[in-house]
Parts: sequence; structure tokens; C-alpha cells
Amino acid sequence: MKIFLIGFMGSGKTHWGRQLSAKLGLPFYDLDSVIVEREHRTVADIFEESGEEYFRYQEKEMLEAIVVEMESFILSCGGGTPCFFNNIEFMKKSGKVIWLNTSVDILKQRLLKERQTRPLISEVNDEELRRYIVKKLSERRMYYQQADVTVTEENTNLEELIQLLLNDQESDRMKEEL
Ligand code: S3P
Repeated sequence: MKIFLIGFMGSGKTHWGRQLSAKLGLPFYDLDSVIVEREHRTVADIFEESGEEYFRYQEKEMLEAIVVEMESFILSCGGGTPCFFNNIEFMKKSGKVIWLNTSVDILKQRLLKERQTRPLISEVNDEELRRYIVKKLSERRMYYQQADVTVTEENTNLEELIQLLLNDQESDRMKEEL
């Protein structure tokens, strides 16, 4: 099974990814980390030295490489991964996509503490951060919404998430039989 976790920066993709990986016994990958290993430099350095466009190409290439090379995995994507090229269609065709639809207030709380590693928000000050999140989220929602399963952090635990995935697979199977 190929599972892709998508959602805004700070939505908890790595946290949920590790939990799912342990529970389902599937290997866990983090797309940013795969890019960082290949490039031998941080995401912030890639943005600064080569620009966002270059990063997006690397992101797309690494996404495709993981899908082709690995049979089963949990992949934590970057916040922008589903919003560039045809990445969201590609993920949906290759496996199951889960959107972590975390509230703006929680995103803000987390990102206030973790801005330095994230080039898109490293220059955004405390007062502007909430506005930035709301605006970016409204641009990205149309991609995130295409996920097969949506998790609202406030009301979902790991068991429920696995149940949502199973229900979704079951409904796929029923559609195939029709
Ligand atoms: C980005 C999110 C980051 C990283 C890069 C760009 C984005 O990943 O890929 O800084 O466009 O939202 P996380 O969502 O893991 O922070």
C-alpha cells in the first residue's frame, strides 16, 4: 500500500506518518529529507541558492522515484507537494492520499516555533503569520481537498484514521465490482 500524507506546513504529517508506519508496519519516508539527502544541503539552502522552481522539480522527481521504486510506504510530503505539476493526480493514481486538515490556530502555534527551517515563512513576522496561513491555505485548499481521506485533528485518532482508510478502500472495491 502506498500512502501519501499531505497538508499545510505544521499540520503534523511527520508525526502521523511515524504513527501509521509503526501501526501498519510500512516504511516511513519524508519527502523533504529525501531531497535534502540527495542535495547534501538543507531545504532553506536549496531555496536560497537555487530558487523555489528548482526545489519543486526535485520534489516532483523524488516523489516519482519513490513511487516507482517502492512497493509500499507511508510518505510525508512537503506542504506544497500536491499543489505543483500533476503531483496530486499522480499520488491519487498511485495510492491513497490523506489530508491533515489542521486548524489555522494550531498551525500558527506550531509554526511560530518552527519558522527557521521553512524558507516560505522564515521572514514572516508574528503578526503576519496568521494572515499568511489563511491566504496560502485558501490557495492550496483546492489541491488538498482532492485527498481520498481527510483528517481533522480535533476529532480523529490513529484507530479512526486507519478505519477511514479501510472504508475508503472498501468503497473502491465496491465501485470496481459495479
Ligand atoms: C513547503 C513546505 C515544507 C518544504 C518547503 C516548502 C511548502 O515542508 O517542503 O519548505 O511549500 O509548504 P513541510 O510541510 O514539511 O514543512
